Amino acid sequence: MKKYKDIVGDGGSNIVAQVEEQQSRLKARLAAVRRIVAVLSGKGGVGKSSVTANLAAAFAREGSAVGVLDADLNGPSMARMLGVRGEKLRITDAGVHPALNAQGIRVMSMDLLLPSDETPVTWEAPTQAESHVWRGNMEANALREFLADTAWGSLDFLLIDLPPGTDRLSTVADLVPSLSGTVLVTIPAEVSHLVVKKSIAVAKATPAPILGLVENMAGYVCGKCGALGELFQGSGGEALAAESGIPFLGRIPFDPRLAAAGDRGVPFVVEHPDSLAGRALAEIAKRVR
Ligand SMILES: Nc1ncnc2c1ncn2[C@@H]1O[C@H](COP(=O)(O)OP(=O)(O)O)[C@@H](O)[C@H]1O
Ligand SMILES: [Mg+2]
Repeated sequence: MKKYKDIVGDGGSNIVAQVEEQQSRLKARLAAVRRIVAVLSGKGGVGKSSVTANLAAAFAREGSAVGVLDADLNGPSMARMLGVRGEKLRITDAGVHPALNAQGIRVMSMDLLLPSDETPVTWEAPTQAESHVWRGNMEANALREFLADTAWGSLDFLLIDLPPGTDRLSTVADLVPSLSGTVLVTIPAEVSHLVVKKSIAVAKATPAPILGLVENMAGYVCGKCGALGELFQGSGGEALAAESGIPFLGRIPFDPRLAAAGDRGVPFVVEHPDSLAGRALAEIAKRVR
């Protein structure tokens, strides 16, 4: 194997110029995007992706040009929730064209690149410890490529759906210095609040303003009658926001139809705009806007 000292310069691949070129491409792409908003939680399964998909659909309904970047490389769900799973991505000189959903939302996700459902994204490294270091690096690289090589066109909003993990926002904030704001998602449970508090701390440490906290699955909507049940109602999200000194954006009840809509790839705000959860999502979108 060649050592660095055996190679004159960097062996002719001109990596420095390549990285510089990618960075200037990234800058040019993001210059055509008016607002970039990251949705995060720290905790998995609380509804980050559902909130992202419905915010995107709510903005698109009002005539905004919207893009969604699925930053969850290992558990991508935006392609499914926005109904573009299995679409072929077109590549031209302008870059990779994102999939276009029924509402005109431009979607880029690892899901659109992986050959089959069973293929996980794995980072190969000689040891477990190295694998952790490399995972962070490779994830950052993959996201930089997604941002720089996707032909987003001009957008009013680019929403970034983050994977669970309190450290994920820092990666995105480094890549996107022009990040306009962050939206945090929690559920009415102490276990969630503990993790979300850490995410709030990370979000406060990034230059992008915190737009606020969403409390999801707060209260249960009866599938048959559409009425709001008492379970979990008003349990702590608002207090957590107040205690942390960040805005409270609203609470979305648990509605089984919301999960079903996501599975079918139709944003809930499009399908049930007049339901309790639909109106809650629209109200949250208005505040974020
Ligand atoms: N308000 C809600 N009512 C009913 N189901 C919901 C609600 N929010 C999310 N879900 C469902 O819960 C699961 C996890 O949500 P998801 O948005 O994937 O969370 P995350 O991205 O935080 O992991 C999904 O199956 C989703 O459809
Ligand atoms: Mg998700």
